[in-house]
Amino acid sequence: MFKLDRKLILSASVFTAAALFVAGCAGFSNSNTTHAQPSIDGGVYYPVVNGKTGPYLVDRVAMPMKINNGRIPTENELKAWDTDVMADGTGLPEGHGNASDGSEIYDAKCGSCHGDFGAGGAGYPSLAKGNAYSMMDTLKSQRSVDGADGPNRVFGVYWPQASTLWWYIKDAMPHQATGTLTEDEVYALTAYILKLNEIKIDGVLVDDEYELDREKFLKIVMPNRDGFEPNIAGPKSLPGVRAYYAKAENFGGKKVKPSERCMKDCQKPTVKNIYVTNGGIKDFVPPMATAKDLPKVESKEFNVAKAYEENCAACHANKSMGAPAIGDKKAWAAVNKKGMPAVYKNGMDGINGMPAKGGSNLSEAEFKLVVDYIVGLSK
Ligand code: HEC
Ligand code: HEC
Repeated sequence: MFKLDRKLILSASVFTAAALFVAGCAGFSNSNTTHAQPSIDGGVYYPVVNGKTGPYLVDRVAMPMKINNGRIPTENELKAWDTDVMADGTGLPEGHGNASDGSEIYDAKCGSCHGDFGAGGAGYPSLAKGNAYSMMDTLKSQRSVDGADGPNRVFGVYWPQASTLWWYIKDAMPHQATGTLTEDEVYALTAYILKLNEIKIDGVLVDDEYELDREKFLKIVMPNRDGFEPNIAGPKSLPGVRAYYAKAENFGGKKVKPSERCMKDCQKPTVKNIYVTNGGIKDFVPPMATAKDLPKVESKEFNVAKAYEENCAACHANKSMGAPAIGDKKAWAAVNKKGMPAVYKNGMDGINGMPAKGGSNLSEAEFKLVVDYIVGLSK
């Protein structure tokens, strides 16, 4: 009995709310209210008034909602999702492949986006830029300085761990068909990309025939392994990183006693900016740009003497040509008497054997500059 009452009360209040809503909309009359349309999620009703959908209201009584919070994934599901390959070899399966095979797979499945020999394509990252060891220097240079190579952040130069490459290819490539490569194919592709980056494993250069397997893979030391802070190498990598970040002092934080409050200057910045001076780039951390301006459009410089040579000299170079010659003071004094606005206009429109703008396709402003140039040299 109690249950029924409760239901009735709820229905009544929903009805009231709906009635208020309709009454509150000027111009909508009750008689025009059509039946609410159930929507795809089943819990939401959109009242339609005068053929228009109003703000939705949730009718909990007509459609009691059950919120589905999902369920705990099974062990197998977790295993399928957990494809991480860690620097210490966790997750890296057995398998093998060489760069020669890798090159064929690459041409068939990767080159269309990443370009021949991993050179990169429009919008697609390059996977190699030559010898990774010698490219290390570029990590210290600044892209915005003329003549300096920008930092080269391709795999061979920049990535601290080769495990990321193996995992990335297996998990995310080819971009349009992920999860389709076998483990041996991934080993072969990895060998090929190592070869393109001229990486050595245990002193041996990875060439076409080099047979990469799990054991050799785990011996790879990437050139930039120690270029990151904190250093994440080793079996304790993850706990080590967590421990590092748990202590603010490790990255410039002021030591603050737990009992002390700190709202200002709690951390000293550790980033060192060394600005480029006339000596050029030595060691340099590029400052973050704060300017948000659009790049300046380079204005094409107008060379007035050249424009004269190209468009006017044929008729104005000397007296024999029938036009007031450049440098002929008398002739130009007579022209200038008309006043410059008239002179410009006559030249623009053409006059007695002078075609409009001398037949050139100079803009009006440019044409006037050339006239000024001739007039200036004829005083
Ligand atoms: C349809 C285009 C496409 C194909 C085919 C493709 N990739 Fe990629 N690849 C991409 C894109 C896009 C990215 C960048 C993804 C991002 O940064 O989010 C990428 C990134 C990568 C990276 C990381 C590069 C970096 O420095 O960040 C590697 C390694 C890679 N691809 C390898 C491969 C390999 C190996 C194959 C062939 C099995 C392949 N890709 C096929 C589009 C493609
Ligand atoms: C095809 C030959 C020819 C070319 C090319 C030519 N001119 Fe002329 N221009 C003439 C002649 C002829 C006159 C004299 C017209 C007259 O006597 O009324 C003249 C006159 C002028 C005058 C005087 C107008 C006036 O009010 O009397 C100006 C200014 C002038 N030219 C500028 C130029 C400039 C600037 C160029 C190049 C962009 C140019 N001309 C190219 C033939 C030419």
